[in-house]
Amino acid sequence: MSHKLLDLYPKISSQSEKNLDLSKFTALALPVIPGDKVELVKSKLLKEITEFTKLNLNIELANWPDFTAKPGEIIEVPISAGSLTRIYLVGIGDEGFDDLRKASSALGRKFKSTNSKVLVNLTNKKELITSSTISLLLSNYLYSLKSEQKNDKPSFAIYGNFEQEVERADVLASAVWKARDLVHTPSNIKNPDWLAKQAASMVSNAKNSDLSISVKSGRAIKDFGGLLAVGNSSPTPGPRLIQVSYAPKGSSNWPHVVLIGKGITFDTGGVSLKRPYESMIGMKSDMAGAAAVLCATVALARTKPKVRVTTLLMAAENALSGTSQRPSDVIKHFGGTTVEVINTDAEGRLVLADGLAYADSELDPDYLIDLATLTGAATLGLGRQHAAMYTRNTTVAKKLAEAGNRVGDRVWQMPLVDDYSVALASDVADFNHTADKFDFSAGSVTAALFLEKFVGDRTWVHLDIAGTGRSEVDAGENIKGGTGYGVRLLIEWLDSF
Ligand code: BES
Ligand code: MN
Ligand code: ZN
Repeated sequence: MSHKLLDLYPKISSQSEKNLDLSKFTALALPVIPGDKVELVKSKLLKEITEFTKLNLNIELANWPDFTAKPGEIIEVPISAGSLTRIYLVGIGDEGFDDLRKASSALGRKFKSTNSKVLVNLTNKKELITSSTISLLLSNYLYSLKSEQKNDKPSFAIYGNFEQEVERADVLASAVWKARDLVHTPSNIKNPDWLAKQAASMVSNAKNSDLSISVKSGRAIKDFGGLLAVGNSSPTPGPRLIQVSYAPKGSSNWPHVVLIGKGITFDTGGVSLKRPYESMIGMKSDMAGAAAVLCATVALARTKPKVRVTTLLMAAENALSGTSQRPSDVIKHFGGTTVEVINTDAEGRLVLADGLAYADSELDPDYLIDLATLTGAATLGLGRQHAAMYTRNTTVAKKLAEAGNRVGDRVWQMPLVDDYSVALASDVADFNHTADKFDFSAGSVTAALFLEKFVGDRTWVHLDIAGTGRSEVDAGENIKGGTGYGVRLLIEWLDSF
C-alpha cells in the first residue's frame, strides 16, 4: 500500500517597497514593541496601510490596554478593504533572534492550512529576516496520512528588500520540512531500504553533479559488526550503510567534513525491551540524526559552501525477534575493536561506532560530527531546547553554538569526564558498551565517552539530540513529533567555511 503525502509547504517570496499592491493580500502583519507605552513600529508600510484602509491602527491598539507586546502576543483587527480581511498586530518583544522566532511562529500558526495571502513585516533588520522567516514557514508544518485531506496552504510575502535573506530561509526551511517528513513517516513504511531509496531520490531530484550516493548492504558491510548486530534483528531488508557526498569539482583540497547520523528506523529496545511500553511510541523518531545529516547535505547543492562533505547514514531497525542480539554477546566493530553488549536498548552507539571507525580509517576527515537520538539522559539534563554537545575542540564548539543561536538550533556543551571511562571496562572484550559499573549516572556523558573510543585523533563533535529531535507538544515551530533539529545548524555551520 502506498501513502499519499500532500505538499503543504507554504509559498514564500519577498515584496519590495516598490510596486506594492495592498489589494492583492488577504492579511497584513505589523510589529508592536513593548515599553512604557506599547507602540507600532513606524515603517513605510504603516503609512501605506493607513492610507489604504483609512484605519488609525494606533487608536485601534489603544483599545487593548492589556496588550503588552510580548513576543507572539497577537491582536487580530478585522477589516474590509479590497480582499483584505485582517490586520495582525504582533508583539515582537526585544526584537532579538529568539523573540522574533516566537513572534513569527505564533503568526504563522494563524494561517496554517488556509489559502491566505499574507504580507509580513515583523522586522526591518536584515540579520533577523532569515531566521524569523524560517519560523513562519515551519509553524505551518503538518504531517497527515488521513484519507481525506485539505490541500490549502498560505503564501507569505516578506516586506522589504530582502530577496537573498528570504531565499536562504526557503533553502533552510524546506530542508527542515523534508527531514520532518522522514521522521514522521511510520516505521511500517520506513525501513532501512526505504530510507536508502528516499536518499537516492533526493540526490537525483537535486539534479546537481556535486552530489552523489552509494548504498551498501549484505557482504559489503560484513565488517560493520555493530550495524549488523543491531540490524539483523530485522533481516528483511536488513541494515544499510548509506553514503552521500557533496564534492564539487576542484574540492579535493578543501576541508573535509564527515557527518554521521543514527538511523534506527524503529527502536523497540530489542531483547532488553523498552519500558514502560508507552516510551516506545516515539521511537519511529530514532532516525532523526540520519534525517538531519541527509537533508542538510542535499541542501548544500543550493548553498554551495567551500567544504567537502561525506555523510554516512547508519540505517538499521532495532527489533525484537529470533535474530535479535543478546545481552552478553561480543561483537567486533569496523577496525577490530571488540565490545560486550550489555543492554540491547543501547543500540545507537553500536551502529555509530562502526561509522566513526570507518570514517577515521577510510575517509580522512578534518571534522567528524555525529548526530544521534542517543540517550534519554540528554533530555533529563537539558530538556528539549538544547542538544547536548560533546567535543574536545573549543573553537568548533564556539562556532557551532554561534551558528545554532543564529538559526534556532541551539547546542549546549557538556563535559567529557575522563574519570567515568573506567565504567566501560569489560572482563571479556575491549569495552563494555554501556557504563554499568560504579553507578556514575551521567548516561549521556558515558555514551559520548564510548563513541570517543572510535574517533582516533580526529576533531570530533557528538550531538545527542534525543531531547531536541522530537517535540511532545504542538507549539511554536513544531507539531508533536520530529522537529528536523540539526538541519539548520549544519547548513549554517558548513556555510561558514
Ligand atoms: N533511542 C534511545 C534514546 C531515546 C530515548 C531517544 C528517549 C529519544 C527519547 C536509545 O537507543 C536508548 O534506548 N538509550 C538508552 C540507553 C541505556 C540503555 C544505556 C536510554 O537512554 O535509556
Ligand atoms: Mn535504544
Ligand atoms: Zn535508540
